[in-house]
Amino acid sequence: MTRSSFDDALAAAECLHKSHPEVAQFTVWDDAAQFQSLEPHWIPSAKALPLDVGLRDGRELVGYSAFCAPAANARWRSTYKDADIGKEFNQKFGCYQLIGAQGHFFSEILNTYLVYAEKGLFYPWHHHPAEELYVIIAGEAVFEAAGRPARRLGPGDTAFHASNQPHAMTTKDKPVLAYVLWRGDLKTPPVLTPAEQKP
Ligand SMILES: [Fe+2]
Repeated sequence: MTRSSFDDALAAAECLHKSHPEVAQFTVWDDAAQFQSLEPHWIPSAKALPLDVGLRDGRELVGYSAFCAPAANARWRSTYKDADIGKEFNQKFGCYQLIGAQGHFFSEILNTYLVYAEKGLFYPWHHHPAEELYVIIAGEAVFEAAGRPARRLGPGDTAFHASNQPHAMTTKDKPVLAYVLWRGDLKTPPVLTPAEQKP
């Protein structure tokens, strides 16, 4: 049961990599990615994601259900556990690594995450050395990045963030589920952008 939900998510990811031109251009697919058994780490998103009807507006991509299915057994991250980001953020935001060194499927060449934010969340300005591509799977959010106008993105849309380019995300009246890819420096985690460096 547990394993099959992760296999389904991997199959959905492979389909996305092979059908979405910007994903295919961003990175190669890893046919050798190997399932590794990880201890689940529970956060509120583990329960909220599969129940969030706001994601199901008829526009969600084909892989939406498969990316939600592992939620209860995923190793959700606590990236901002100790950051000055507010309690509400960690109640409404979740991220698990599907593919990568610490992902449910081990890969040395591919790093992908599922990112979920409930409606009404501000993901403050942050940055990281890795280049990043967001692909919206369901719902919508407003994406901001230094040097670029804010954009409201929905299913199939993408947002690219260059190395250390500050960016922020806001959900309004809908939640968002995104498939996120990293390349480059994978070891340095995101940090909140200091006030003096914000756009
Ligand atoms: Fe980012």
